[in-house]
Amino acid sequence: MQYRKLGETGIDVSVITLGAWVYGVDAWADVKDDESVQAIHAALDAGINIIDTAAGYGGGYSERVVGEAVKGRRDEVLLASKCGAQPERIKQQIDECLQNMQMDYIDLYQVHYPSPRIPVPETIGAMAEIQQAGKTRFIGVSNFSLEQHREALDTARIETSQPPFNVFWREIDDDVLPFCREHNIAVLPYSSLAQGLLAGRFRKREDIPDDIRSKNKLMADDIFEQCVEVVEHIEEVAAEHGKSVVQAAINWTMNVPGITSPIVGARRSSQVQENTGGVGWKLTDDEMAEISRRGLEIAKRLDYSSNMWGYSPK
Ligand SMILES: NC(=O)c1ccc[n+]([C@@H]2O[C@H](COP(=O)([O-])OP(=O)(O)OC[C@H]3O[C@@H](n4cnc5c(N)ncnc54)[C@H](OP(=O)(O)O)[C@@H]3O)[C@@H](O)[C@H]2O)c1
Repeated sequence: MQYRKLGETGIDVSVITLGAWVYGVDAWADVKDDESVQAIHAALDAGINIIDTAAGYGGGYSERVVGEAVKGRRDEVLLASKCGAQPERIKQQIDECLQNMQMDYIDLYQVHYPSPRIPVPETIGAMAEIQQAGKTRFIGVSNFSLEQHREALDTARIETSQPPFNVFWREIDDDVLPFCREHNIAVLPYSSLAQGLLAGRFRKREDIPDDIRSKNKLMADDIFEQCVEVVEHIEEVAAEHGKSVVQAAINWTMNVPGITSPIVGARRSSQVQENTGGVGWKLTDDEMAEISRRGLEIAKRLDYSSNMWGYSPK
């Protein structure tokens, strides 16, 4: 495993973060708790030392599964969760989080989405209060615009940003990503495998499961086939390195300048093991650039006025 500094915390985090949304069960088909726990153990065994969950993943269920799985191994892992933007709710949610995870503190607490009705300084002010109370070591943001990043940083030191980002979803390329580099904020991008598309899981429409993926804009009729063509290109490049498409997709994401540790969801241990093969080698600069160019062809056709699933916070 390779490690990088998490913002200005001085802490080394693995270049893969384990994503725990799937362990929340409700948005995903056929999730089995025992496989979730095995996947978390496989991640720790492989040297992955950061796990991302949220209050919203199964209404705390994912937090409970993660908390249970890391019992006895708490010192090996940096735990990150997420909350809403409303100040009073943040103070309740951190307590619920600690109860769900059966812990006295969490390492990183992130605002899941900004609220258009609540000024950023109020939200971040509440985050700073729970940090001062020792309930979280560090604070971060997710789904924040460039301007919201500025306002957050004017209020308190944020160590991380969690934006959507993968070969196809390139909303942050020209604003949030350079801002985070400039201010040494760690970037933990989510849906880095485009929910399985970049793992080569879906080649035909019938392959897409009837779960959260059916709402993903990248799986929509008018765009899906073009995405699959890019996946096939990445697969050819990967084969030249003796790697699989998912390994090359992870390698591409982690080597984009400014990216710290892509968050990769994995429902079972075999996926975690394959995904760690995305680390320890490197695509050439030309391969990086060509994958980027092909991804941008799709990126410029996407509608970023709502998120990857058509949701925008009210
Ligand atoms: N802040 C936010 O708003 C936000 C939003 C979304 C996600 N996130 C975070 O980011 C994490 C990752 O995003 P994500 O879960 O949306 O999607 P993702 O990481 O892009 O994709 C995860 C899915 O890819 C498939 N996969 C992974 N490894 C594979 C392998 N080796 N072979 C075949 N398939 C493989 C699995 O699909 P199957 O399940 O079909 O096997 C897995 O569930 C989440 O868990 C969460 O922590 C945050």
